[in-house]
Amino acid sequence: MRVGVFDSGIGGLTVVKSLLEHQLFEEIIYFGDTARVPYGVKDKNTIIRYSLEAVEFFKNFDIDIMVAACNSVSAYAIEEMREVAPFKVFGVIEPGALALQNAIKNKNAQILILGTKATINSQKYTRLLNSYGYENLLSLAPSLFIPIVEEGLFEGEILQSAMDHYLKHIQQPDALILGCTHFPLIAGPLQKRFPDAKLIHSGEAIVQYLQNYFSFTKKFSETKLKFFASENPDGLKEVAKKWLKL
Ligand code: DGL
Repeated sequence: MRVGVFDSGIGGLTVVKSLLEHQLFEEIIYFGDTARVPYGVKDKNTIIRYSLEAVEFFKNFDIDIMVAACNSVSAYAIEEMREVAPFKVFGVIEPGALALQNAIKNKNAQILILGTKATINSQKYTRLLNSYGYENLLSLAPSLFIPIVEEGLFEGEILQSAMDHYLKHIQQPDALILGCTHFPLIAGPLQKRFPDAKLIHSGEAIVQYLQNYFSFTKKFSETKLKFFASENPDGLKEVAKKWLKL
């Protein structure tokens, strides 16, 4: 099976990492809209328009499914993408909410959702989790984490100050949804700050979801990888080499 992975930029490589680790696909084609990143500060209509263009891009390839690794796209554009795509389209929000439901049985648990402004404003996670019976939800958009991660500052003083800025008054949650492609890269420091919290990662969540959906029987020890970007594809390939240890 071949999968197209779409993200607003480089962040979706965290999802590719999970897909690779589980050896589910024969080929992964990645497209990052690096010319127009970030999506997380844009409005719904713009995110839908860009996402439909990504569907058009993937029509040039023989893919079986498309995964929107970007939480902001998953929050706003999945239905519209499904209407025009000749392949199945999966987002990461429903898989993330289901992964939380699997991990946290206590409906009174304190759940902290971190995402971009677009993801948080869409209330997609909160509505889904409410519908599963979870009531104690807190949503937050720590926007500065994104450029900090893009700078490769996965630890250290600058990240710590940003974490203090956003999280100083936040009580220890039972679970933390990493509702943005970039946040798995700072999972270590976030876990250190909230040592008792169960971290929910979009990459792991979509793997679980796809495994349930398709009941894969075959593993691919070698996965063909192709990377595309709307700007500076070489830069994206460099990051892919580093993050995915290629
Ligand atoms: N990929 C985006 C997300 O997961 C984060 C970066 C952006 O704002 O485009 O929502």
